[in-house]
Amino acid sequence: MLFSKRKHTCPDPALDALLVSPAMMVDPYPIYRRLREEQPVFWSDTWNAWVVSRYTDVAESLKDKENLSNENRQALLFSGLTDDERQSLCPLRHYFAQKDVIGSDPPDHTRMRALVQKAFSPKTINALEPRIRALAESMIGAAAGQGRFDFIHEVAHPLPVVLIAEMLGAPVEDRHLFKKWSSDILAFQGTGQTTFGPAMLSQKSLVELFEYMNRLIDQRRKEPRDDLITALALAEEGGKGFSRDELLATCNTILTAGHETTTNLIGNLVYQLLLNPEQWAALRAEPALIHPAIEEALRYEAPKQRNFRRVKKAHAFAGVDFAENEMVFQVIGAANRDPANVENPDVFDIRRSKIDHLSFGYGIHFCLGASLARMEARIVMETLIKHLPQARLVPGSMRWQERVQFRGPGRLLLESARI
Ligand code: HEM
Repeated sequence: MLFSKRKHTCPDPALDALLVSPAMMVDPYPIYRRLREEQPVFWSDTWNAWVVSRYTDVAESLKDKENLSNENRQALLFSGLTDDERQSLCPLRHYFAQKDVIGSDPPDHTRMRALVQKAFSPKTINALEPRIRALAESMIGAAAGQGRFDFIHEVAHPLPVVLIAEMLGAPVEDRHLFKKWSSDILAFQGTGQTTFGPAMLSQKSLVELFEYMNRLIDQRRKEPRDDLITALALAEEGGKGFSRDELLATCNTILTAGHETTTNLIGNLVYQLLLNPEQWAALRAEPALIHPAIEEALRYEAPKQRNFRRVKKAHAFAGVDFAENEMVFQVIGAANRDPANVENPDVFDIRRSKIDHLSFGYGIHFCLGASLARMEARIVMETLIKHLPQARLVPGSMRWQERVQFRGPGRLLLESARI
């Protein structure tokens, strides 16, 4: 049995309660500051996990492949459920027991990452530029003509979904299914506690996605095309390729990792620039600033606020003892604003001399889609500058999305200052 009994006492229940408070959705940064200053490595009862928040600790923890594991890390999420609930969640538990590129350790991870990496080579990613530009042109061009529009709904959401659907080789008209499946599947993760309802929803969407992907993989094996599913499905045939379960799980990872986070990056970037009109003006005058602006947005508002691992081997970390099979959350959003690593961390400043962040992870699981996400963000900014140089926020229109582990606007109304 993988589930371990908790052996720790939460040192500060009042601080712990804040980790699941509504404030975490709106402005988690004062809470992160307290974590870093008062309890940098903290046993949380509310998350049922260790919480690590300082930059150096988060970096060390992300790259520690000897003591920490990505394999079976989600299995722990079911530990708080009843036996009956666990029984009803058999398909979901089966899925999480499978290895995939993100949910594995070496040597399996090394094998699978090499297969996926081929599809994310600089040549393949650069070849996507014209298509991304065409999508940005049509979406931003159409939206700008409306006068006032929701940037998230019209651009930041659909662009990465259409792109990932096309890359995988799935019919683009199915993109609404992708968006729903991805959102349901991720909804129940984010802490070490889980509740039955969201887990059932996640299971339903996962089963539907897998039926869909299974059909697609079978088709591509009969009639190969120039797409990611074909590349991965054919890799499955080789002795060193994917098993079917690994392939399905990897497709799910690429689908979910490939757009939720990118939507947030693009939304956060535009929001911060328009909140700081002098930086938006500087960037329009000097497009070379787009690159540092993207990095600063990644630092300032990590699209994926937290990451997690399972303790593979009991060990001491920063003065506390981690026991086997406990969960460890690395709070990337807190690490990126650690004043020990960056001056004036709570200021958004695209002209910083050095921009360090952990938003794409660190170590062997470093994000495979980082250059694609950066390219999508760059092209969206270039297209926005072209069509809406006078863009401004409609005051009071921004709403944070209510997602436990992701951070980005759920709604962001823009208009042109000329109207
Ligand atoms: C701003 C956008 C993105 C952010 C913030 C982000 C963040 C991350 C993070 C933090 C990890 C490390 C997970 C871990 O250590 O367990 C990761 C891994 C990964 N990401 Fe991304 N990601 C983004 C975009 C993308 C895109 C566009 C794709 C693909 C189309 C992608 C595919 C992956 C894959 C396949 C992995 C697993 C790599 C491995 O385990 O070796 N990501 N991402």
